[in-house]
Amino acid sequence: MIATIVGAQLGDEGKGAVVDHYSDGASVTVRYQGGDNAGHTVVNEGVEYKLSLVPSGAVRGKTGVLGNGCVINPRVLFSEIDALQERGLEPDVRVAKRAHVVFPYHRVLDAVEEATKADDDLDAGTTGRGIGPAYEGKAGRHGIRVGDLLDPSVLEHRLEYTVARAEAILKGVYGRSPADIDRDDIDVEGAFDTDALFAEYKSYGARLREAGMVVDSGDFLTERTAAGADILLEGAQGTALDIDHGIYPYVTSSNTTAGNGATGTGLPVTAVGQGAVIGVVKAYLSRVGTGPLPTELDDVTGAKGADADPPATPPGATDETAVATYLRQRGGEYGTVTGRPRRVGWLDMPMLRQAAQTNGFTGLVVNHVDVLAGLKEVRVAHAYDLDGATQTTMPATTERWGDCTPVYRTFDGWADVDWAAVASEGYTALPGPTRTYLEYIAEELSTPLYAVGVGPDRTDTIVRQDPFA
Ligand code: IMP
Repeated sequence: MIATIVGAQLGDEGKGAVVDHYSDGASVTVRYQGGDNAGHTVVNEGVEYKLSLVPSGAVRGKTGVLGNGCVINPRVLFSEIDALQERGLEPDVRVAKRAHVVFPYHRVLDAVEEATKADDDLDAGTTGRGIGPAYEGKAGRHGIRVGDLLDPSVLEHRLEYTVARAEAILKGVYGRSPADIDRDDIDVEGAFDTDALFAEYKSYGARLREAGMVVDSGDFLTERTAAGADILLEGAQGTALDIDHGIYPYVTSSNTTAGNGATGTGLPVTAVGQGAVIGVVKAYLSRVGTGPLPTELDDVTGAKGADADPPATPPGATDETAVATYLRQRGGEYGTVTGRPRRVGWLDMPMLRQAAQTNGFTGLVVNHVDVLAGLKEVRVAHAYDLDGATQTTMPATTERWGDCTPVYRTFDGWADVDWAAVASEGYTALPGPTRTYLEYIAEELSTPLYAVGVGPDRTDTIVRQDPFA
């Protein structure tokens, strides 16, 4: 049995907690796209682990696979593995030979390109991890793959070409030299030093080989499924950030959607399609990147994280600034590093309808319903008004999406109750208006509700259906 977990919106839907829950029943958890742009927190036996590449199941003693659709920064991967080992764990992580490698020059190009595009408001607000340039290398056929790290002569040959190419782009296209770039998170000096990169990345290849971490992910996973293993495919980011189906160009550079569960792992599409596809929905919207957001509640001018208190009285639905601050405070919608407020908005049904269609959800998980608690009214963009016509799905171009005006439906709010008690009692213990809201979403998407998240802890998820049970 294969279950695929996909974000239905703009990332940060709380997929980690869902993966955490359902991975109990699986013996292998697999990433099929993205790299260290994703971040997830796993709490195991009271200990918190912050990870971006190691699949969360690996912390729980399951095998974690980074599929061929991923882009892997070995510095980050090994520092995460080392940190886990120092804390007494022995994570079993396998890496696909066909996955692409992220090098320091990818981070430099990511930073320079974003800075250049910002002049025309075309920057995507990337995580700066070099993800876009690494996927460009893959599509442009000048990337370096994990399998190449194991063969020094191939690695050296490829590096000579790709490093020279990256430096030529930096100088010729952007008119910059490495010395112009002042970023703490990038090893700029070493980024274009072919010999140093060769020595360092060859050693990663040797470590991957010695640790028996390198696999053909399609073979490995097909053998495991044939032996009866249950497999959880872990999507990163969200459907609206998909390179094809998302709000291009404000997207990530991979297919985040369920179809890539096959292409990005080497599993047959029929096997993935016969399994469960679970869409994870946040009960409102949050956005860390740039670009339009029709249901956005005010602009991002909220006070910094812990410095601001939640408004004492829950605001009415039309007081947008106050609602935005309320949601940010309660949902912790502040960047973990900078403390800057994230953009927030009301739930967007056209976005969810498109996600349900593109992914073929067989089940839904709706998270963070506790964050909305206390509001007198909760709004949902049921549809859009676009040039006087009603539109129930997202327009294919982002510019037209930006022209959409939400057509709202207003729901009764619900009280802020003892959510831990509700979680232990189950679905029927949820306040009536919360169930009305959840059932509206499930009905509109013609998809059953598998689980509801009512808080950050593992025990705060009401599970109605488990794909592996
Ligand atoms: P990149 O993936 O770093 O290239 O960033 C491209 C876009 O995807 C930006 O808008 C990022 O904010 C967004 N993004 C990437 N990873 C995540 C994530 O894990 N959560 C939410 N947004 C993300």
